[in-house]
Amino acid sequence: MVICKAKDYKELSRKAANIISAQVILKPDCVLGLATGSSPIGTYEELIQWNKRGDLDFSAVTTVNLDEYKGLSPENDQSYRYFMNTNLFNHVNIDKSRTFVPDGLEPDAEKACKDYDAIVEKVGGIDLQLLGLGHNGHIGFNEPADAFTPCTNCVDLTASTIEANKRFFESEADVPRQAYTMGIGTIMRAKKIVVVVSGQDKAEILKKVVDGPITPQVPASVLQLHPDVTIVADEAAAALL
Ligand code: F6R
Repeated sequence: MVICKAKDYKELSRKAANIISAQVILKPDCVLGLATGSSPIGTYEELIQWNKRGDLDFSAVTTVNLDEYKGLSPENDQSYRYFMNTNLFNHVNIDKSRTFVPDGLEPDAEKACKDYDAIVEKVGGIDLQLLGLGHNGHIGFNEPADAFTPCTNCVDLTASTIEANKRFFESEADVPRQAYTMGIGTIMRAKKIVVVVSGQDKAEILKKVVDGPITPQVPASVLQLHPDVTIVADEAAAALL
């Protein structure tokens, strides 16, 4: 694991965007695995600026997102498809037909998961996967569990994730209770992984992820086994490393 420390969120975002931008420059038709949440927003803002300046071309890029709430439509402003459109896709020259997010409106969980795995396979797997880190060590919506999930699965969100995500909804009752998420196996098959971690409240879990035992109880700890992981953390998040 490479730990790349940044002094603050702005610098973290620039560093992460630099890594992604290098990937797109070296392989213009690459497949980017993308994340939602607050951590990557600054990274997307940087990428948008560089695209507008003409320094970064998304025209041949394909993207696959980590996850989507079950039951939310792409037009719902809390859906992850909506998040990606508003925080990145609407502002860069990407072909939206090559941007993929699990289908939150597919009620048949088995079908939704199979379909999404087929998409990831069809696009040829992920060149670079961007991740955020949950307070309980989750990546995607892969929550602490007894085993690592091999492929896309439908999860019941834990109380801590519902609590963390309720800030985006009118009330806690509005937070969906289930989501479709790419599995740990799929994430681990990405050629390169970049994790963005910001804030003092992530310091403890980041320490466990980097230095603790590899266990599905801390899903991101599995990243220790990946050959090419870069953790970009600001000073507050990296305080215990
Ligand atoms: C988002 C995702 C989640 C978040 C994690 C951290 O697509 O898969 O794993 O990355 O919950 O969220 P933030 O960045 O909001 O702290």
